[in-house]
Amino acid sequence: MKTQIGKDLSEAIRLLKLGELVSIPTETVYGLAGNGLNPLAVAKIYDAKKRPSFNPLILHFPNFKRIQSILKTTPPYLKDLVERFSPGPLTYIVEKSNEIPDITTSGLRSFAFRIPNHPLTLELLRAIDFPLAAPSANLFGMTSPTNSTHVFDQLKDRIPYILDGGSCKLGVESTILDCTGDKPVIRRFGSTTKEDLETWFGYNLAIEVNGPKALSPGMLSAHYSPGIPIELFSEQEWHNFLPDEDCAFLSLFKIHPKQMNHPYIQLSLNGDLNEAATNLFESLRYLGKSNCKRIIAHRMPEEGLGLAINDRLQRAAATRF
Ligand code: TXA
Ligand code: MG
Repeated sequence: MKTQIGKDLSEAIRLLKLGELVSIPTETVYGLAGNGLNPLAVAKIYDAKKRPSFNPLILHFPNFKRIQSILKTTPPYLKDLVERFSPGPLTYIVEKSNEIPDITTSGLRSFAFRIPNHPLTLELLRAIDFPLAAPSANLFGMTSPTNSTHVFDQLKDRIPYILDGGSCKLGVESTILDCTGDKPVIRRFGSTTKEDLETWFGYNLAIEVNGPKALSPGMLSAHYSPGIPIELFSEQEWHNFLPDEDCAFLSLFKIHPKQMNHPYIQLSLNGDLNEAATNLFESLRYLGKSNCKRIIAHRMPEEGLGLAINDRLQRAAATRF
């Protein structure tokens, strides 16, 4: 199958209605989308990604009205919460309704939804009468794609169409909030900060990002790999690290004293964690393709987007070669 890249919305709509897959842009990362209510289309997603089918998918909707028609029970705060944070990088887990096939939620009794904040994809979602199941458009375990070329690199010949909506503004996946219990629980750190959520709720949220249930591939300890090992240090250890010739450096903004002649990336020259998040996956890809054999990185400050970046770095560092 030859993979096309383009901005042709009607082609994307045509393929999706036929049960085919299309990679779609979002504000976080590119998704690999199919009709989330069609089990055959969903099966194609797992197959194209080489993803084990025990990992549930997020359903993407254009607005809350469409979600309401499919919701079974809703926590009292949900509507206001969605109004505040969506369209945007927050995914909500709620009780599953019967219209959603088991393969989409991999048998779970809950399902995840979000309203992505990307004009082209919102237009696409409005034009079809089903939600799109869309995991990040990378091969299983690999770095998430933040532009159409990244998608092409990993999924060429596996999907018919990539809808090109430019580079993703945020660059790190949505935050996942489990709304099925009495109190919400953060299940994945992402582009909506814990601080913003806690301000809205008015209390500290429970965090279960390594839940015993291993519900998310984002929760698998090894994920987001750029294809070479990453070693993750505290900032001080990173500063003192004595490199050999095969090392590359990744930092927030500092320059390593022995950086000369090594490939290196500063995620944000002025230490801005939002900018660092936007650049993260692209930087990992770049270093993964350089001639170096391992990446020497340091942890980000544990605040704002730093939590999401550290989560990705930690899981990428856990990949064994
Ligand atoms: O920003 C994003 O969320 C991107 C874009 C494309 O929307 N999507 C994304 O999808 O990151 P994916 O499949 O790579 O990660 C979705 C995560 C997975 O870790 C999955 O296990 C979790 O959401 N998830 C989905 N449904 C769930 C459920 N019912 N309970 C718990 N976790 C769930
Ligand atoms: Mg993913």
